[in-house]
Amino acid sequence: MSANTIEENKQRGHFADADSLWLFGYGSLIFKADFPYLDKTPAHIRGWTRRFWQGSHDHRGTHEAPGRVATLIEQAGALCHGVAYHITPDVFDHLDYREMNGYLRFTTTLTFQDRPAADGLVYIATEENTAFLGAAPERDIAAYIQHKEGPSGRNADYLKDLAAALRALGAHDDHVFEIEGHLLALEDNGR
Ligand code: BEZ
Repeated sequence: MSANTIEENKQRGHFADADSLWLFGYGSLIFKADFPYLDKTPAHIRGWTRRFWQGSHDHRGTHEAPGRVATLIEQAGALCHGVAYHITPDVFDHLDYREMNGYLRFTTTLTFQDRPAADGLVYIATEENTAFLGAAPERDIAAYIQHKEGPSGRNADYLKDLAAALRALGAHDDHVFEIEGHLLALEDNGR
């Protein structure tokens, strides 16, 4: 599958007739909401875990030196914390463009702290997309992203902003916090 997912996302008919819907954010959407929304609230989804396994050619890296950003990997029993945005479908023109580097829209069930669960959408970059980088030890991911940079800024800042946003939500994520720990140690050592 090509990394450019704009056309494929347009063909996906989920919630085509809905006036509004819930979108689950687990990566940059948590700390960078550059789109209009009707409501925003903490949420989680089940059966998926956050991993820095997706290559970023267009935001936190380049074609020559891709960054590593978050995607979701299926894992039985896992729970992924994030933020839900209640949006109108026209927002997808912007989001499909922003997240065109391998991310496809999937349906999922969102669980909220303060209201009944609801079905919604989530963007996921699966291993079929050509920008997918795959698994690596957290220490290696920290060393990899330390000096990567793209049009949206430093890869290390993406990781730190995500970790800070998860802490603000009161959400724990072993994978993200372990990468952050290695990254801070590398920075402390001036490497
Ligand atoms: C998210 O934060 O949910 C997200 C991450 C990457 C691409 C699209 C959405």
